Amino acid sequence: MKALMQNREIINPDFYVEHGYPHEAWAELRRESPVFYWEKNTEMPFWAITKHADITQIGKMPEKFLNGPDLVIRTDPEPEGERFDPPPTIIQMDPPMHGAYRKIVSKRFTPGALRKIHADIDNVAAEIVEDLLAEGMEGECDFVEKVAAPLPIAVISWLLGVPKEDWHLLFDWTNRTLGAGDPEYQEEGSVPGETARNAMIELFTYFSQMVEERKKNPTDDLVSLFAHAEVNGKPMDPMDVLSYCMIIVIAGNETTRNATSGGMAALIEHQDQLRRVQKDPSLLQPCIEEMLRWTSPIIHFARTATEDFELRGKTIREGDKVALFYPSANRDEEVFEDPYTFRVDRNPNRHLAFGIGEHFCAGAHVARIEMNYAFRSLIPRIAEIEFAGERDRLRSSLVGGIKRLPIRYKLNAA
Ligand code: HEM
Repeated sequence: MKALMQNREIINPDFYVEHGYPHEAWAELRRESPVFYWEKNTEMPFWAITKHADITQIGKMPEKFLNGPDLVIRTDPEPEGERFDPPPTIIQMDPPMHGAYRKIVSKRFTPGALRKIHADIDNVAAEIVEDLLAEGMEGECDFVEKVAAPLPIAVISWLLGVPKEDWHLLFDWTNRTLGAGDPEYQEEGSVPGETARNAMIELFTYFSQMVEERKKNPTDDLVSLFAHAEVNGKPMDPMDVLSYCMIIVIAGNETTRNATSGGMAALIEHQDQLRRVQKDPSLLQPCIEEMLRWTSPIIHFARTATEDFELRGKTIREGDKVALFYPSANRDEEVFEDPYTFRVDRNPNRHLAFGIGEHFCAGAHVARIEMNYAFRSLIPRIAEIEFAGERDRLRSSLVGGIKRLPIRYKLNAA
């Protein structure tokens, strides 16, 4: 069993580019060895955690399993001096510090608070979707370029208060940080660490000017919120203010982009399900949850054990790394009926696409509003739709990214 498993690929970025998610290998692990020590990744050996229940348990034990030391399992060798460790943000913080910082943004992102700006988010999204629909009653396009990428960029920029002429910068920074391991986004003659570092410096320089401006003239955007925020009764450290801007840019873009493009691909592959939502619009919300389960845009996040911990008869030692494979949890046969079937009426749907526990995605409701707008506008208009070429995947073991999704379509009249 051990030898067999180690011949599989579960975290190899090159495998993802070629084949997408290794669902067969994850299923085998869930069945045979759900807490499995993955020695093959010599850069950083780790415990592969593949069951829904175990990921839930670990996610809810933030004192025993820390985010701080290593949030991502490193797969590519990075020689001394070439590695880039981004400045810590809330996602790398552990209790009790994490709670104090998380409070700053969580009030803004509750469903209640977002209800007030729901219409504004719809307006921002409308411009992008209408652009596509205005191109004629039939056509061909790259869905990522036309809708899935610009949609979250526009919404995040609007939430932060970034003016429209600078939205393209956010696109570029996200590609060069989260996509630094992909040759397409690497700066010429530079290594991934350097590409990500340069993008981060540009992002910090840009936002430090914006923060200064908002300190003098506050508005109700997120940059103003961070610029005036207090942690435990004291103004937030200037570096933390910038890190907060950075995590919103980085966490909110690529993820929603891939849930939207992966969601569209799922509808193309399951046209019977597309027709069901067209006939019954009350299925839109469960359809979006199913897209999130189906695509699971984050492949893994890692934790570090603070003490020895027994799980399913295995001992995870203090200091060991564990990788939480969210897409595997989202195909767990013990939780989901027919996990390999895309069903727009799935209910219940306790997917872990947004993680679980202490670090549950702060932007989950924002992402849902964006996807709701896009699919609410597009689905009724689709008369015919098909792929117009192969999709291109991002080289990454963190984000299951789709770089290009060529589609061909005919529309219904509005
Ligand atoms: C479909 C889209 C999205 C997916 C799949 C997603 C996924 C995730 C996951 C899995 C985590 C958990 C991290 C962990 O366990 O350590 C997370 C955290 C986070 N996400 Fe998202 N995310 C999405 C959209 C967004 C958006 C739109 C925003 C911002 C507006 C955002 C901001 C954040 C932040 C700030 C955290 C850190 C929370 C913390 O550490 O307390 N995300 N996200």
